[in-house]
Amino acid sequence: MSAPTTARTELFARVLAPESRANPYPLYAELRAQPVAQQADGTWVVSGFDEISALLHDPRISSDMDNADHATRTDVPKSLLTQDPPSHDRLRRAVMTTFTPAVVESLRADVRRMTDRLLAAVGSRTRVDVVDEIAYPLPVAVICALLGIPERDEARFHGWADTIARGLDLDPTMSQSERDAITHASTELSAYLAELTTQRARRPGSDLISGLISGGARSEPLTGEDLVITTRLLLIAGHETTVNLLTNGMLTLLRHPDVLARLRNDPELVVPMIEEIVRYEPSVQFRYRATLADIEIGGATIPRGATVVLLLAAGNRDPRHFTDPDSFIPDRIPNEHFGFGGGIHYCIGAPLARMEAQIVLPELVRRLDNPRLVTDPPPYRPAATLRGPRHLWVDVDRILP
Ligand code: HEM
Repeated sequence: MSAPTTARTELFARVLAPESRANPYPLYAELRAQPVAQQADGTWVVSGFDEISALLHDPRISSDMDNADHATRTDVPKSLLTQDPPSHDRLRRAVMTTFTPAVVESLRADVRRMTDRLLAAVGSRTRVDVVDEIAYPLPVAVICALLGIPERDEARFHGWADTIARGLDLDPTMSQSERDAITHASTELSAYLAELTTQRARRPGSDLISGLISGGARSEPLTGEDLVITTRLLLIAGHETTVNLLTNGMLTLLRHPDVLARLRNDPELVVPMIEEIVRYEPSVQFRYRATLADIEIGGATIPRGATVVLLLAAGNRDPRHFTDPDSFIPDRIPNEHFGFGGGIHYCIGAPLARMEAQIVLPELVRRLDNPRLVTDPPPYRPAATLRGPRHLWVDVDRILP
């Protein structure tokens, strides 16, 4: 294998830099020229579809970054997302037996009602911020309803969740004050949830937290720290990702008016289109892993104890796997992508996220009359992993009934 050029070993640092947030895809294409490449900071970046797929299913790969020799860590407690078998499997089973397809279905009417309420609140204004007015409040209301968290507490955890999301980047250039803010937010959120789950154990209801506390036929009841970190993962994963799916979806449609018009005439198109949004503009751009052994892959040997970046969003645009990968093709079939991850950590909330997007996006397309993007690209939130616009201002003639 040829020695990497200096520029190539700095490519991932450039992905993390804020100026790349609006369009990281040209950097991903450069990285894919060497699908498994070590960076100047020692990190191994995996950007090819086949290589990512292999590693997502490889038991020599760990999601617990304590197994990496030099990982940049933030002091956030480990949930099932960052644990390996067997503790991962026990917690995952607890969630899977409570958070069932029937539970997702039972929320469908609520999602319709909430979407309607949020659009009604725009009133006669002709400028809408899709993020603050729709894409953020909707999944928050849904996850609160699911977990039985009072919606009035949203103002308390909004800031904490945003700060914790930035912590997922493991960015070595992050300042100490940013790191301290993440630790602080994490402690506050855990304290809030510890109190809430204690109350719920005393007075159970019909929500998911109560379900986790009582356990199921195939899973043990969750208590103490397990219960707090699992609730916390569901709370953060339940909205920090879906807000970006809805916003990236609307942004992509506004950039493709032909597809927007097609969706207006053919609402059924939404089902394959959501998959294409998740492939084309994934809410989760990459995930970190640590190697438990030397792994030969893509013409390289990643040593044991290495920090590996699985660049899911680069795999999603790999021309070795997808035809015309940089085009947004709403009825692309088949569409096997990494938008919801893969292997044993495959997203548990994917059915919920799909259901929310399948309701909200066609409703926005139907009711926003003559929508126009105010700024393109829009301003982005700082996180590179959970990537999405901070605001998405859209001018409309009116909100249709
Ligand atoms: C558009 C929305 C969403 C996207 C793009 C997304 C994406 C992902 C991805 C890529 C992973 C795998 C992480 C890894 O392999 O390290 C994951 C895991 C997970 N997601 Fe989602 N997610 C979304 C919504 C949700 C929702 C709504 C929930 C819950 C209410 C949720 C709960 C989880 C959980 C619990 C895991 C961890 C699974 C495990 O470690 O076994 N996600 N998600």
